[in-house]
Amino acid sequence: MKIGILGATGEVGRMMIQILQERQCRPKKLSLFASERSEGQQVGFFNELIKVQRVTKEALNEKFDFLLFSAGGDASKKYAPNAENAGNVVIDNSSAFRKTHPLIVPEVNGHLIDNYKGIVANPNCSTIQVVIPLYYMHLLYELEEVVISTYQSVSGAGHKGIAALNAEKNKNKTNSPFPKEIDGNVIPQIGEFDHEGHSEEELKMTYEIKKILNITNLKIAVTTVRIPVYYGHSESVFARFKKEASITEIEKAFTKSDSIEYQKNGYLTPKELLDSDKSFVGRLRKGPDKHSVQFWNVAHNIRLGAATNAVNIMQYMLNNKIANKR
Ligand code: A2P
Repeated sequence: MKIGILGATGEVGRMMIQILQERQCRPKKLSLFASERSEGQQVGFFNELIKVQRVTKEALNEKFDFLLFSAGGDASKKYAPNAENAGNVVIDNSSAFRKTHPLIVPEVNGHLIDNYKGIVANPNCSTIQVVIPLYYMHLLYELEEVVISTYQSVSGAGHKGIAALNAEKNKNKTNSPFPKEIDGNVIPQIGEFDHEGHSEEELKMTYEIKKILNITNLKIAVTTVRIPVYYGHSESVFARFKKEASITEIEKAFTKSDSIEYQKNGYLTPKELLDSDKSFVGRLRKGPDKHSVQFWNVAHNIRLGAATNAVNIMQYMLNNKIANKR
């Protein structure tokens, strides 16, 4: 098997390499691509050192079994269509193809890529972790309305997000990707606002949750917020259903999931995530009426929210089953 990773020196790209190793997935050839800035850097993979190559369209026209992209939307738009035309499967972590191509969380809608070849879009980090518990509840009671507030770590903005928080902590000058100071602060803006005042991240989550769950008329209200935490996104969630909901029944349904770790008598915080690939659900409780519930949801944004789901998509396509081992 031949795998290529574009964005191999970034937060998500490096994690993709790590997850392949953790799962003992050792392709015959692994090619690593990034910009000219990283050309020639060496990256360890099992017992080899692999040289990072500067990406070119020609290099991606070669035959790969899977290309995993995480180099931002512009690079995806530039390189993915060519690679797809060359007959390659591209699993793309950017938002460039989420509206036009299959948007997949294997455990929820993997069937859409059975026998599929081409570009597969990996959803937004905040979407992946929350859509999994919502899916199991939807199967039971039919979702009608969701209200979410997020508390998102700086690594969601890539390496420059982490660098900005470090620089501010050390009182150094920084070229920050955030609209206001992030150290010791809370910023209710991720991406630009549209004409109605919704941020890009809020629009992404709204669109993606509806698409993945295949509920076009789902009412969703999202507020996305950046906080000074390095890794791990947290979400507070309110969900209302067509039918009456039972906490005990939902708890039972969660046990069917490969990805959910349910905490009956507590909750997880981002600091406690370590290198888990789970979507942690805690503080599950009744809402203000019999048709609604509320819960707390935390996951590692670079792992489950990006690299792990991308590798899960690849392994689903290889085996038609989810290989979430952690
Ligand atoms: P490089 O390290 O050479 O800049 P992060 O999201 O952590 O900032 O990482 C982004 C990743 O995407 C890095 O590996 C970066 O490479 C890569 N990248 C960004 N823009 C391009 C581009 N235009 N062409 C190729 N790789 C890119």
